[in-house]
Amino acid sequence: MRKKIVAANWKMNMTQGEAARFVDAFLLDIGEINNVDVVIIPPFTAIARVTEALGRAHNIKVGAQNMYWEKSGAFTGEISAPLLRDLFVHYVVLGHSERRTLFGETDEMVNRKMHAAHEAKLRPIVCIGESLEQRDKGNVEKILSTQLHGSLAGLKPKELQETVIAYEPVWAIGTGRNATPAQAQEAHAFVRHTLAEMADKTTAERVRIQYGGSVKPDNARELMSQPDIDGALVGGASLDPRSFAQIVKAARNE
Ligand code: 13P
Repeated sequence: MRKKIVAANWKMNMTQGEAARFVDAFLLDIGEINNVDVVIIPPFTAIARVTEALGRAHNIKVGAQNMYWEKSGAFTGEISAPLLRDLFVHYVVLGHSERRTLFGETDEMVNRKMHAAHEAKLRPIVCIGESLEQRDKGNVEKILSTQLHGSLAGLKPKELQETVIAYEPVWAIGTGRNATPAQAQEAHAFVRHTLAEMADKTTAERVRIQYGGSVKPDNARELMSQPDIDGALVGGASLDPRSFAQIVKAARNE
């Protein structure tokens, strides 16, 4: 059985004060967290404050939205895996579609970051997904396969098992138009099938695959009840503590 994983990708939002207030309200609302992994992914500037506000809620982990693959050096403006570890970060999002489309990240760059993250014992959440044009042309599987092979190249089975994959169809991100549970399940099953080909069936069965793209309290339960959907990567709805808590509760099947 795969444990569900629900993550809040705050993107470029939340001051330190807003982040601390979010955590206080979220902790009050959510109560005990069992049977689901919860990750809060603030902008770099609010990471330390979120960790502080979480206090002894050690079962909620903190993530980062990006990193560079070198460990240190003359890379002005970049953040490395060891610097994230220094902030008690456990997860890092790599290859988000906004990074790919707005900042020119390629699968090869994502792959270098993947290796650097694993080396530092950070767990990557690697994002893949097709555009509307690619879907309309019937190229979903081709795109997903290319992104998986490119970004996961050279990973050992154990590293793959510690990688989270987020299927985020680009047309569903921030649009209010989520993939239907059936569309998402079809893509997730294909991802798992591809992982089995790339590694082996046991490895593929252990990898958690999140769905992302307009996940809201009212669609989260049905999406996460699909057999190959192991959680959610939530953007807009994760900025409100109550709606993010509802999505976590949906993953707990409450
Ligand atoms: P929205 O939930 O705002 O559609 O964003 C999804 C996303 O990009 C999460 O990484």
